[in-house]
Amino acid sequence: MPSKSDLSITIDGPAGTGKSTVARLLAARLGLDFLDTGAMYRAAAAIVIDHGLDPADVDAVVSKIADADLHFDWQTDPPAILAWMKPLNDRIRQADVTKLVSPLAALGELREHMVRKQRLIAQQHPRLVSEGRDQGSVVFPDAPVKFYLDADVDVRAKRRAEQIAEANQPVPEPEQLRTDIRERDERDMTRAVGPLVCPDDALTVDTGALSLEGVVDLLEAECRARIDA
Ligand code: DC
Repeated sequence: MPSKSDLSITIDGPAGTGKSTVARLLAARLGLDFLDTGAMYRAAAAIVIDHGLDPADVDAVVSKIADADLHFDWQTDPPAILAWMKPLNDRIRQADVTKLVSPLAALGELREHMVRKQRLIAQQHPRLVSEGRDQGSVVFPDAPVKFYLDADVDVRAKRRAEQIAEANQPVPEPEQLRTDIRERDERDMTRAVGPLVCPDDALTVDTGALSLEGVVDLLEAECRARIDA
């Protein structure tokens, strides 16, 4: 049974399953820190675009991202991602970043860099809910509690539309959103390094069948049942 002092919970799954929101709420309920690893890949994509780098020039990309010293400000909720000590704010959610991030996240050397950073963060924040695509499978294979969130493409497209509207960005047609999601799944699941997989020991939750509160309740109950109270 895991102890309360050294505890990492991983939440993996495809885009639009509500991972970030669920991870953040779960972390708050359990008094743990929340790590949004998608924000790290998004920050990398924003830097590549804003510095005019060629995404195919892996060495230049990794060297620039290393130089940016990506890290989080843990005083904000959710923790804000910083590059060169400056918060990137909404830049990481803009459409050009969302378009580039999936192919960029397929670069093996960039993933190695991110995995190292994420493990360092976990050393400094050992009580962590970590959310992404490879957290339970690659980054924290020994995590005592792992979840895999999933949902039907239609449900995920609807959620994506709501998120885009909330960010005051133009919302694409539903069919376009479904196609984007399928293509992104295909890329995330078939890349050579750190593909999206459901870890063997993860509990899979269909978030389409539950309310947000319902998902968080379920995960919280599961964590509390597994963690020595
Ligand atoms: O969860 P998100 O949409 O913010 O993730 C952005 C992108 O980063 C998405 O294409 C998947 C990728 N990603 C990844 O490859 N590995 C992670 N641990 C987190 C995100």
